[in-house]
Amino acid sequence: MSNSITRSSRRGTKWVSAKFLADILNLEVGPEWGHFVPVKTANGVTLDFDTREELRPGHYAFLVSDGEFDAAFARIRARGTRYYADPRRTKPGEINHLYGGRGVYFDDPNGHVMEIITRPYGDRPEQI
Ligand SMILES: [Fe+2]
Repeated sequence: MSNSITRSSRRGTKWVSAKFLADILNLEVGPEWGHFVPVKTANGVTLDFDTREELRPGHYAFLVSDGEFDAAFARIRARGTRYYADPRRTKPGEINHLYGGRGVYFDDPNGHVMEIITRPYGDRPEQI
């Protein structure tokens, strides 16, 4: 099983996107590994930021504790990052309470939809 995910970024922005995510989640960036800018999460998965000519927006969700959610959400608001209760961005400025927890979606600088949740997704999809 792979323990890294490659994230695409416009030319010259892989450090911007890597630092953005690391700042929100209170993680470290780098050191640069070849042409990748890695951000390692607490469970050992590394997100490798790389440059792509063609960007395909992706979606990345991170399961965090309640305390980590509070801190990350405070940083999202403090930096003026747009956030939403839903991935289609129809509920801006709100969070959701799916699966008995809290969740919020937010935009990264390269248009990827990031998400932090405090409870794993359940067996059946819950609607916002
Ligand atoms: Fe999601």
